[in-house]
Amino acid sequence: MAKHRIGWLPGDGIGAEVLAAARVVLDRLRLDAEYHEGDIGWEYWRREGDAFPQRTVDLLKSVDVAMFGAVTSKPVRTAEAELTPALQGKGLVYRSPIVRMRQLFDLYVCLRPCKAYPGNPLNYKEGIDLVIFRENTEDLYAGVEFGTVPEELATILGRLSKNFTPFQKLPGDEYAISCKINTRAGSERIARQAFEFAKKSGRKRVTIVHKANVVRATDGLFLESAREVAAEYPEIAVGDANVDAVCMWLLKNPFNYDVLVAPNLYGDIISDLCAQMVGGLGFGCSGNIGSELAVFEPTHGSAPKYAGLNKVNPIATILAAKMMLDWLGEEDKASRLEDAVAAVVAEGVVRTYDMGGTNTTSEMAEAVAARL
Ligand code: NAI
Ligand code: MG
Repeated sequence: MAKHRIGWLPGDGIGAEVLAAARVVLDRLRLDAEYHEGDIGWEYWRREGDAFPQRTVDLLKSVDVAMFGAVTSKPVRTAEAELTPALQGKGLVYRSPIVRMRQLFDLYVCLRPCKAYPGNPLNYKEGIDLVIFRENTEDLYAGVEFGTVPEELATILGRLSKNFTPFQKLPGDEYAISCKINTRAGSERIARQAFEFAKKSGRKRVTIVHKANVVRATDGLFLESAREVAAEYPEIAVGDANVDAVCMWLLKNPFNYDVLVAPNLYGDIISDLCAQMVGGLGFGCSGNIGSELAVFEPTHGSAPKYAGLNKVNPIATILAAKMMLDWLGEEDKASRLEDAVAAVVAEGVVRTYDMGGTNTTSEMAEAVAARL
């Protein structure tokens, strides 16, 4: 197998520490890889006015896969004020680099496995093993938003939608519009990934998550598209449910679910809920997967208050590295890594603060590496 070219994007805060921990285990696995470090995050926004500089975009074009730590994001007003003085007043607008990356590279699958490793004191219940497929490029995250609604738009909406009338009377700065945009192709392809995964991994059931009874146009399209794909997989049980009900039922009985597929926002929400049931942010791992590139990351952010303290749990990032190995076709190393994590969790000797222990980030990485 050719040497893997891996983009390495630590980002801000604890991003560097958790990626360093992942590197300890990858090196111990003797993964044949070269790592190409890239600049991303708040510091580049401040200094250059771009949190995701073009050189990093180019770097991602040249690698097979990437690991991403976390970035700090702040509200628009704070973002402008923190720019280096030479860049202020130029109308630069902060945009989340990870959302941009997903769109630019069409990383349309957000894959979030949530497995309760036996013996984790943070498990909500032992035995939970859920996999979420979140659509990653469309929906309310399409980025088509109006903080102030232009009159042109108000006029068109007033003309086309009877239901818009009460809003049309408001001044444009008294309301805001974020567009939820879902396509048939986008809904079909995420559903297909979920069903293909279920088929290949011997999973029994896929649940389509939506709110089609209220958000009729977009979620209706998502549900209809996913149902059409489901018909091609008669061997897999299919169900659908409203997102609010799913949140309740997941807590009541997580064992009624297996694979879940959802539009972007609902997928984001239910995957955090599921991650919390299997240990919280220290265990939540995620893959942003497209047809050309995939970027793996912990789901947590930059946790500024823990930055530089060597304190947070690196398991989320180590599990993200495990997902990367699977994606690279290094299944053997991936399963060795997962077994090592499971062994350390089961043993319960090395635990970071979130698990009720006092061990450091690097001690946890070493403990996993020692089991490889
Ligand atoms: P966060 O996920 O960074 O941290 C919240 C809290 O969760 C931490 O204070 C800590 O108590 C706990 N935590 C996080 N990671 C942990 C780990 N590995 N081990 C143990 N405990 C852990 O969320 P927060 O504080 O809301 O956001 C901080 C910054 O990160 C913000 O600027 C936010 O915009 C950004 N963010 C970035 C994300 C990304 O890069 N993908 C995702 C979420 C937030
Ligand atoms: Mg989230």
